[in-house]
Amino acid sequence: DWTPGNVVAEQVAAIRAQVGTDRVICALSGGVDSSVAAALVQKAVGDQLTCVFVDHGLLRAGEAEQVEKDFVAATGVNLKVVDAADRFLRALAGVTDPETKRKIIGREFIRVFEQAAREVVEEAGESSAEVRYLVQGTLYPDVVESGGGEGAANIKSHHNVGGLPEDLQFELVEPLRTLFKDEVRAVGLELGVPEAIVWRQPFPGPGLGIRIIGEVTAERLEILRAADAVAREELTAAGLDRDIWQCPVVLLADVRSVGVQGDGRTYGHPVVLRPVSSEDAMTADWSRLPYDVLARISNRITNTVPEINRVVLDVTSKPPGTIEWE
Ligand code: XMP
Repeated sequence: DWTPGNVVAEQVAAIRAQVGTDRVICALSGGVDSSVAAALVQKAVGDQLTCVFVDHGLLRAGEAEQVEKDFVAATGVNLKVVDAADRFLRALAGVTDPETKRKIIGREFIRVFEQAAREVVEEAGESSAEVRYLVQGTLYPDVVESGGGEGAANIKSHHNVGGLPEDLQFELVEPLRTLFKDEVRAVGLELGVPEAIVWRQPFPGPGLGIRIIGEVTAERLEILRAADAVAREELTAAGLDRDIWQCPVVLLADVRSVGVQGDGRTYGHPVVLRPVSSEDAMTADWSRLPYDVLARISNRITNTVPEINRVVLDVTSKPPGTIEWE
């Protein structure tokens, strides 16, 4: 029988059998997948686990703080935070191709992470020759879409599967590999992970880097973060968080259009709202959000983010569109 309790029991046993008494590292992103994976591993091997949070500078407003405070408060897990924002920005300079961005972010992520993992082992005063394991919150749809499943096509390099470098020095622990998102949430609740984390909407590993169409720069990130925060606030205020799967806000950084704001002509950028409903992200439909909510989001973004003078709505299903624009 499939029950969250059975999944926890099976995975705890499997994790213990796999890692023995060795040290385990987990890349925590703040999302439900890595949080539930970490909670499972902590239940299995306790203090053998250290979570590493790589702040790649591509996060939304308030996200780093949420990981540092909420998750640690709830679980008491060992956490190491690495601020690598400058490094990622340098690596992404001049890059506009979506797959190249994904590969760069995946590569830099694993390098920063490997460095952090070495430090964790050193700080624990252990031998660097010791086998180390890496926990990843890979779900079944990630496996399928990255070409790992049967009959799969490679659609995008999800950075936690297909984008890993060949010289990866960790053995992977992937306790969520057979699960869909709703099952992961049930397992999270079973483990006592707080509802705020369990019900968090998905957010891609490469973060805002794949929601800026064009080159990723610090200034563009700031613009997108501001617009995204408005959209999230209004959707939450309208009580829509559980009705929609997620609502990417996408900055068309190389597109400009003429507007009139205040007393004068503007020549600003559009953002796209991409609200979708979905069961498992394999397919999705665009969400029919109430017009008044859309109107509030649009008004607030154009009133508070001066670089943005137009808000547009994406009314494409998946397929043919993917959920993210890159
Ligand atoms: P797409 O754009 O492929 O997205 O329709 C499907 C779901 O996956 C999320 N997504 C990612 N998640 N690493 C992740 O962990 C990634 O590289 C990645 N790319 C997309 C996306 O937000 C949506 O929920």
